[in-house]
Amino acid sequence: MQFAGSHILSISQFERADVEQLFTVADAMRPYAHRRRRTCVLDGAILGSMFFEPSTRTRISFGSAFNLLGGEVRETTGFEHSAIAKGESLWDTARVLSGYSDIVVMRHPENGSVAEFAAASRVPVINGGDGTNEHPSQALLDLYTIRSELAGRERDIDGLRIAMVGDLCFGRTVHSLSKLLSLFADLRVSLVSPEALKMPAEVVDNLQAAGHQVLETDALEQGIADVDIVYSTRIQEERFASREEADLYRGRFRLNQSVYTANCEPNTVIMHPLPRDSREGARELDIDLNDNPNLAIFRQSDNGVLVRMAMFALLLDVADQISEHDAPVNWCTERRF
Ligand code: NCD
Repeated sequence: MQFAGSHILSISQFERADVEQLFTVADAMRPYAHRRRRTCVLDGAILGSMFFEPSTRTRISFGSAFNLLGGEVRETTGFEHSAIAKGESLWDTARVLSGYSDIVVMRHPENGSVAEFAAASRVPVINGGDGTNEHPSQALLDLYTIRSELAGRERDIDGLRIAMVGDLCFGRTVHSLSKLLSLFADLRVSLVSPEALKMPAEVVDNLQAAGHQVLETDALEQGIADVDIVYSTRIQEERFASREEADLYRGRFRLNQSVYTANCEPNTVIMHPLPRDSREGARELDIDLNDNPNLAIFRQSDNGVLVRMAMFALLLDVADQISEHDAPVNWCTERRF
């Protein structure tokens, strides 16, 4: 892929070499994200950030990533604060917003909406999640996390054994992650979900067409045995017709320390795109795992900044200029990590 000036709308745009290039740039972002150095390579650039669905991590980490590269962020959140509430089309909004920004990140509840916006945009657009469809930056940070968690274990993404657990039907993160994993070789993928929330057939077909072994099950214990990674997900209650319907599935697959000890290999890495639903009836990832060193969820959310910085650096074509614009950090960073 030619990164400079492109939109990032789907993982389908990526080839393996693109992923490797992005991860190399993400590695180089570490001193800046970890506040050992700072860079102003994007001084003067503006990110237009438009989030029409709830978001904490994705919105803030895209914004922080842009700030860490020296750029500024203008944001709008929620339809009620946008002219879309007055009947403006996505096409018009895109023409206007892209006149105010150098790059745009957008989240929207409808599948395909970010692509529709991008078609009218004069600047690159990144999909921050469109309905149940895709969440490409999350998949990239998930895979980056898998790569770094495996690094000390003499295992690689090729040959990976991974279980994805929960709402595989409506969860866009697992759709994008599965597409990304299809680029690698010899994977064993366990898909653990209730029958009604199974992974869409085309995503499974895509994994199988890539030569991966896929097991679909509704038995958590079976699915999480013999895997390197358990990737747990939240029941996407906002996609159900009613809360009662979501409640049928909430709390169905709970991973806690005793389930982990009884079923997982001792070093199985635990991931989750977050937010985990910590309410009584849910707890897909129990807080009693917080002291488990294999719980990678906050390393995962930290990695979001590195990967999103790399995306901006490549799309705005400054990846090889970062260190020419850098300086020491003046403030205390002692307790940061
Ligand atoms: C996910 C999303 O929005 O798809 N969150 C995130 O961006 N990390 C997952 C979720 O909301 O369950």
